Amino acid sequence: MDVKPQFRVLVVDDDPTICKLLTAKLKFSGFMSQSCTSGEDALKILSKEKFDAIISDLNMPGISGLDLLAATRRIVPHTAFLMATGVSDVSVGVTAMKQGAADYLLKPFQMEAVVVSLRRALEMKRMEAELAEYRQHLENMVEQRTKQLKSAMHRIELTYDETLEALAAALDLRDNDTAGHSQRVTLYSLEMAKRLNFSGDEHKQLERGAYLHDIGKIGIPDAILLKPGKLTPEETAIMQTHVRIGYELTSRVAFLSVAAQIVLTHQECFNGGGYPQGLKGEEIPLGARIFAVADTLDAIMSDRPYRRGRPYSVARAEIERESGRQFDPEVVKVFLSIPEETWVKIRSQASETRTELRHKSADHPALNGGSGGIGGALDLAAQAG
Ligand SMILES: [Fe+2]
Repeated sequence: MDVKPQFRVLVVDDDPTICKLLTAKLKFSGFMSQSCTSGEDALKILSKEKFDAIISDLNMPGISGLDLLAATRRIVPHTAFLMATGVSDVSVGVTAMKQGAADYLLKPFQMEAVVVSLRRALEMKRMEAELAEYRQHLENMVEQRTKQLKSAMHRIELTYDETLEALAAALDLRDNDTAGHSQRVTLYSLEMAKRLNFSGDEHKQLERGAYLHDIGKIGIPDAILLKPGKLTPEETAIMQTHVRIGYELTSRVAFLSVAAQIVLTHQECFNGGGYPQGLKGEEIPLGARIFAVADTLDAIMSDRPYRRGRPYSVARAEIERESGRQFDPEVVKVFLSIPEETWVKIRSQASETRTELRHKSADHPALNGGSGGIGGALDLAAQAG
């Protein structure tokens, strides 16, 4: 016989003669076979030993064939189950198949039919196991690839953010008045966004938008950008184009498309008096409405060539006064709910980060020098300020 002898079959029948006869015939056909005369015994044996197939009688006192089938589907689902029935029980045999039996065998047994049925059931189980293994392999592979992809995405995100920081720092460097300004307004904005329940993604977009809000100033001539005195109406008009230039620059970059909206609308006023579109109220993205408050807070508290930075109380009074005019009253409410210490702490944290980066740039030649990395850019920006 060509059946591999390692297949183990458990015969369960309350008639010991049938058990004896069937195990002998199965052994003769090349199977390893063992028998017991009740469902209870079968469950005991199955809890200790592994079988490839079970041939069980349908009608037994105590645990019936159908009960044994249900129990084995739970405890040994990978073992093939064949139900032995009399001719009068064929419909029950079909029921058994619906409940997970691989086949039913008619009594009295015809050994040829039993062997064919067994082989088919074992082959089916083998294929099931192979499929399960393949599926598991695929799942492992997908999981591993997902991890790799996530970590690559994370590295890309970090690179993006470092690039943005460098860009913003380079801009701060050009515009003497605002050394560290981009970083501070970003941190201020995020503090308010946190209290407005921004999602992780909204948070990220606000961070990028705030960092890059004045990126368009790259396109403003020095004579206007750095002019010490008051700008003429023509010069003001040119200066105001920085929001559109910034939008043009950022909206083309896929990962900045939402942040670009903040760049475009960061000079809008809640009452419609801002530029470039004169948007009103909720027409202005929430991120830009938050940014506007952060921008004013930083402008008032920072030194200017012609004056020292003023205390928090001055900024607070100004922001409160402009609630409903320049600023969204809801955002102002959030701003006012945050204690002065928090703003002061953020401000000193921002300057610490810059000092830290300056030291890093001194340690690492790659980061050193005007345009060589964030550290270098921040260093020069700080000197300029
Ligand atoms: Fe601006």
